[in-house]
Amino acid sequence: MDVTTLKKLRDWFRKNAAELPWRPADLDAPRDPYAVWISETMLQQTQVATVREYFIRWMKRFPDVETLAKASEEEVFKYWQGLGYYSRARNILKTAKAVTLEERSSDRVHKKTLPDSRKELEALPGIGAYTAGAILSFAYHQREAILDGNLVRIFSRLYALDFLPTESRDAAEIYWDYAREVADSPKAYMHNEALMELGRTVCKVKNPDCTNCPLRNACRAALENRTDEFPPSKKHMQKDWHGTVLIVESADHKILAVHGGQKFFKNQFTLPHFESPRNATAGLPAQAERYIDADKVLSVENIGKFRHSITVHKMECDVLYILLSTKVPKRTAPDIRWVTLEKAKEFFANSFSLKALERLLHRTDKP
Ligand code: ADE
Repeated sequence: MDVTTLKKLRDWFRKNAAELPWRPADLDAPRDPYAVWISETMLQQTQVATVREYFIRWMKRFPDVETLAKASEEEVFKYWQGLGYYSRARNILKTAKAVTLEERSSDRVHKKTLPDSRKELEALPGIGAYTAGAILSFAYHQREAILDGNLVRIFSRLYALDFLPTESRDAAEIYWDYAREVADSPKAYMHNEALMELGRTVCKVKNPDCTNCPLRNACRAALENRTDEFPPSKKHMQKDWHGTVLIVESADHKILAVHGGQKFFKNQFTLPHFESPRNATAGLPAQAERYIDADKVLSVENIGKFRHSITVHKMECDVLYILLSTKVPKRTAPDIRWVTLEKAKEFFANSFSLKALERLLHRTDKP
């Protein structure tokens, strides 16, 4: 996200931040790590409106980690009752005990509290990447990222990401990279919390309020009126893609290359390709007529398959080798090139096209 958009996000948050019991009036004040930990853990599966009262009650009874560590599990459960997911309460108590037991000789104030590094925090029961990032940014004002359902929804819409971070390690890394970009600032604490608030109140799952969104001018989904497509719902997720790649050779032995407009290769030349069913019938597919004149086709041959992965998409492609009866026309459209087979290897800069060409070059039964 660029600096202008981030400034709009901060301005929006200063104006619109709801009053919440775990949120001090001074939005720039570092917070108590214990209070951040408790509130963010409560908020993980439960709505803000419900958490409010639970948090207030909890903090009256267990105002700090030392008080909590001395409590019985039975009593802790009593204060958690109604929030569900009791393993969270059990883990909170375990972590409170672990933190207060630890000898923290470097801690001059002698006040026992939560550690201030991601590694130490994530080693504690019940503290994952999100909670650790929240504690480090909101309490210690470190440049640490958070990622939860709210931020996933926002990033998916901002950048039109048609996959979820749960799909693969690569997919998760793409989302975390966007989260780290936002947190790479002395105002990481505010960017993180403002995005949480934005996801909750504006960039909602249903009917996002794009007209009041500070990010609308940077949001691809909003600009293209496609907010309902992002994030993709699990049932619409298409992880596997089957396609057909065309190697079209003219009578003067040149190969057809096309530019842009295709799903995975926006700004480069590739071999013509399109999505197609597995086990497509033999012959010239109708989609090929986008690129060539069916009356000029001498032969169509399926010369094999190859697999290829791009981000989260696992592709499998059939390669069709098509010979034309005519030479390359004198004039061609600007998004089309004809390259000699010898030059093709250097011409195509993507391994997708190169893998298809290899099928042709390694063919044993070449005519
Ligand atoms: N939901 C969970 N944590 C939140 C926070 N810190 N601010 C707003 N909404 C939240």
